[in-house]
Amino acid sequence: MWFPLETIVAWAKRKGFVYSWSDIYGGLANAWDYGPYGVQLKKNIQDLRWQTFVQERSDMIGMDAQILMHPKTWEASGHTENFDDPLIDDKNTGERFRADQIIEEKIEVDKLSLEDVKKYGAENLVPESRTFEQMHDFIVNEIPKNPSSKKLAEWTEVRKFEMMFYTYQGVVHDAENKIWLRPETAQGMFVNFRNVLDTTRMRVPFGIAQVGKAFRNEITPGNFLFRTREFEQMEIEYFVENDTEIGMQAFEEWKEESMRWRKDIIGFKAENLKFREHEKDELAFYSKGTFDVEYHYPRGWGELQGVAYRTDYDLTQHQNTSGQNMQYSDPQTGKRYIPHVIEPSFGLSRTVLAAMIDAYEEEKYTDQNGKEATRIVARFNKHIAPIKFAILPLIKKDEKQVEIAETLFKKLSKKYMCEYDDGGAIGKRYRRQDEIGTPFCITIDHQSCDDGTVTIRHRDSMEQERVKLEEVENFMG
Ligand code: GAP
Repeated sequence: MWFPLETIVAWAKRKGFVYSWSDIYGGLANAWDYGPYGVQLKKNIQDLRWQTFVQERSDMIGMDAQILMHPKTWEASGHTENFDDPLIDDKNTGERFRADQIIEEKIEVDKLSLEDVKKYGAENLVPESRTFEQMHDFIVNEIPKNPSSKKLAEWTEVRKFEMMFYTYQGVVHDAENKIWLRPETAQGMFVNFRNVLDTTRMRVPFGIAQVGKAFRNEITPGNFLFRTREFEQMEIEYFVENDTEIGMQAFEEWKEESMRWRKDIIGFKAENLKFREHEKDELAFYSKGTFDVEYHYPRGWGELQGVAYRTDYDLTQHQNTSGQNMQYSDPQTGKRYIPHVIEPSFGLSRTVLAAMIDAYEEEKYTDQNGKEATRIVARFNKHIAPIKFAILPLIKKDEKQVEIAETLFKKLSKKYMCEYDDGGAIGKRYRRQDEIGTPFCITIDHQSCDDGTVTIRHRDSMEQERVKLEEVENFMG
């Protein structure tokens, strides 16, 4: 069952997963800060990605490049020239739309065929493949009304909107000192390719992983954490021999690994995940293929992660722009070549969003008085749950119970995020933990003082069992 996004947003704000950005100053639509549970959820996802793909693999290493990279980086990558969106304004309302997006919606909703759109110069149904003039003609003729106000629009021309944020380095604010905030983390790994080869024993095939902030001046941010202007990525660049057959094999492996990580390691529901292969006309000229891992968000299927086979394009571009040799020399065969690259690009912010959607449930149950009740329960996989154990002394005035509870908290919190809660009726404390997705609640009661046992309550089944204090930790597996 899917809950509306508004329900997820309200819960995430109420429980301290996410806060509205700078809200004492009125906030800003579609910008968010992570609260205490959100930051922990994000960290757990990030750590598991690192553990699976860096720590547990001998063919992978990690690195961390600066957000402000050398401006030539973006010339080489093509971002300074091509990283923009087509924009159109409705003069009547002052609203701004992405031209390709409103065209796409029109084609989808009205189920337009290629024949219908050919008169606007379309060779296919992909809106981005049209010129600005063709997009403008299409919109003026086919979308006369403003999509949000539903009133007659007065459309401007379609214009280019640069999506990279920039600032200035040093005291003088002129073109020479202009420097961009990276719109993706990927380039940090390409520009350090030679450094990795020179300073480690990595040999092709090998990969580099990074995690960090990226910035895009999105025209239409929205859908909560799905599209924001500041977000985090966990990208990998995996270098293989410049041979398409070898490259395709690695591409398939990374596709499967990406899906396996989402299902088996961070525990997303299989029915909420699928692949979408990019059509030939969606691919860049150098690409041999791209798959998105899609997630079923409340508004429908959408991208969660990309896996792209980018050939030798990026390293060749950096070689040409920097004049530095990006060739790899195979120590066994002596063959010299620019490696091909497979890029699994995990969005961290979108994975946090999907984790919250995947976990959230409103469940009906019968309470201890036999009455029907509803509880909100976040069924996070225990490894990504923000808090693993809640430690609950039944009676906070009982010194012995408090002593056992405090000692247990000290011990468990060396390894796991725990919460100590001695406030209110035990049922209420359980509900509080269910709502933030804590898999195990440990209650210390009078029997604990006599025999050193505690009750452990399981979030999903609500079942309780009595275990020895020393055994509690085993539940994390
Ligand atoms: N280096 C390739 C690259 O950046 P992308 O498809 O533009 O490819 C990769 O981005 C991932 O980054 C997406 O699958 C998504 O998870 C995340 N992402 C991209 N733009 C985003 C935004 N504005 N807000 C949140 N996440 C975003």
